[in-house]
Amino acid sequence: MNRDPLPAIERILFTEEQIALRIQEVAAEITERYRGKPLKLIGVLKGSVFFLTALARHIQIPVKIDFLAISSFSNRSSAPGVVRIAKDLDEGIENEDVLLVEDIVDTGLTLRYLLQTLSSRGPNSLGVCTFLDRNSRRLVQIPVEFRCFEIPDHFVIGFGLDHNQLYRNLTYVAVMKPEKNT
Ligand code: PRP
Repeated sequence: MNRDPLPAIERILFTEEQIALRIQEVAAEITERYRGKPLKLIGVLKGSVFFLTALARHIQIPVKIDFLAISSFSNRSSAPGVVRIAKDLDEGIENEDVLLVEDIVDTGLTLRYLLQTLSSRGPNSLGVCTFLDRNSRRLVQIPVEFRCFEIPDHFVIGFGLDHNQLYRNLTYVAVMKPEKNT
């Protein structure tokens, strides 16, 4: 399914097989780190959904799953990276071991906000796991405990990542043609 590159795609960065292998490796790291502790995975909607479900299937300890959604304020009077929680978690995280799961970390501003907000709710621990890390765009330093791939500064789609809400369902990650992502 959807293996044929689309017209919008410049090149495939990670194939379905590469992604599956790397996710299994990261899931094994998470299993070892949290063994003996019930773990809660928190997905940041929407992009992380594909990664979170693939990751969770390979974690060999019991996990709970919850989601939150954020909105960016993108008008001119707001500073860049100012976000708010648009959909909060269904349950509290007090005394729980929590792993925030992201599809991509760019500036780090979203995660800085989420880590500040969630740490005030009294978790036992609060870590970060991201599918992609575009470290060259980082504006604030964020502790990222688990990452699948570091990527160059290109516009990427697939495996949860979108362009105008499309392409999240691609089974691979691809670089988009520059003229298509404006
Ligand atoms: C992406 C990603 C992170 C954020 C990272 O979300 O899922 O939440 O951007 O960017 P930052 O490090 O510069 O703050 P996006 O706004 O694209 O929403 P989506 O997950 O619904 O696609």
